[in-house]
Amino acid sequence: MIERELTERIVREVGTPTYIYSADRVRSQFAILEKSLTGIPHKIHYSAKANSNRSILELMRSLGAGADIVSAGELHRCIRAGMDPTEIVFSGVGKTRAELEYAIVSGVGLINVESFGELKGLAETAKRLNTKTSLGIRINPNLATDTHPYIQTGHGSAKFGVSRDDAKEMVAWLRENAEELDLISLGVHLGSQIARVEPYKQAMRLLVDLAAELTASGVDTLQSLDLGGGLAIDYGETQAIDAESLFGVVKGELAGTDLTLLIEPGRFLLGNAGLLVMTVLYTKRAGSRNVVVVDAGMNDFIRPSLYGAKHRIEVVGDEAAREKGTSTIVDVVGPVCETGDYLGQEVRLGAVEEGALLAVHGAGAYGFSMSSTYNSRPRPCEVLVEQGKFAVIREREKIEDLARGEAAELNWR
Ligand code: LLP
Repeated sequence: MIERELTERIVREVGTPTYIYSADRVRSQFAILEKSLTGIPHKIHYSAKANSNRSILELMRSLGAGADIVSAGELHRCIRAGMDPTEIVFSGVGKTRAELEYAIVSGVGLINVESFGELKGLAETAKRLNTKTSLGIRINPNLATDTHPYIQTGHGSAKFGVSRDDAKEMVAWLRENAEELDLISLGVHLGSQIARVEPYKQAMRLLVDLAAELTASGVDTLQSLDLGGGLAIDYGETQAIDAESLFGVVKGELAGTDLTLLIEPGRFLLGNAGLLVMTVLYTKRAGSRNVVVVDAGMNDFIRPSLYGAKHRIEVVGDEAAREKGTSTIVDVVGPVCETGDYLGQEVRLGAVEEGALLAVHGAGAYGFSMSSTYNSRPRPCEVLVEQGKFAVIREREKIEDLARGEAAELNWR
């Protein structure tokens, strides 16, 4: 995906650990979605939480994507990246009044409410600002998915969305009490890294059904159905969802309605477009295990530690080493003072020496965006590559940045 010479040139100039993203790979993933969505009215809203770097958002915008956001911070980033606010969908269970106000004032196209309290808060805020605003209701479809428990969001006891019955009560309230609100959408998000089509089919059926019921009861403002994100990718040992069959099925469910389909992919667009490149600091033995200590840790990339996620790890430029029979089984661990700090366990690697470069694959989504400065480690540099060239899209954080905002003197009040 990203050639060895280029990776080495990047590392010479910016050091490690560094995230490297391929713009071409993002484009080709986007094209897969667009192709499988042809023939129906649709809009792709890139899920900014996967990676909210300004240049990534600009790239998504240039491809024609809107955004899916969950906070004022993401809204700010999207606006700064030139996204059209009317093409932004704002979801999340805990939007504050200040966030709702910021969204209304910015002209966000769709606010997906996730509780009765939020609906009332939105109505009050819109009234106070004397503006009309468009909303959707996020439905909890009560559907099981076989993904990691932390990233399942569509089962009945998940904190997300409201039940179908609660949604109907909310719509009744809305029609009586809030003329400043237009209900334009119904949505779901089932969870993340979902490889099967069936849950999407059921969710789509539920949305189409509910939309028909509401329309029959006199709601004449619905414009779209939002299927959320969650499309699985192949991390090496996992299966990607087949976009063509997914949207084939979705089109079947949508047939006969004139509603626009919204989707909110994050990982699918960016996951396999990104690498985390790091340097081997030391190799050692720990009991019966071979340990490779690298200069990236769980603060830089938390998916393995948090979800037990398995990411392909390879010596840069030495992808063929395994076939050559020079491989050993190693644990790749970071410098953070936690036993759970690893990038990979029982990884088959080519011969590794101190100073070698390793790449963690599938790190484009939920890599940098979930990084922290734990252990007072500055966050990595981010680089975008395109046709043999690279650009730094976020400088490596500096040690001086780490304590910014901390008081030098105490001002008791
Ligand atoms: N829409 C909503 C409302 C969401 O909550 C999410 C992700 C998405 C869209 C995008 O999902 P995607 O297409 O990227 O799967 N940190 C976890 C993933 C958490 C996803 C949270 N919500 C991970 O690293 O696997």
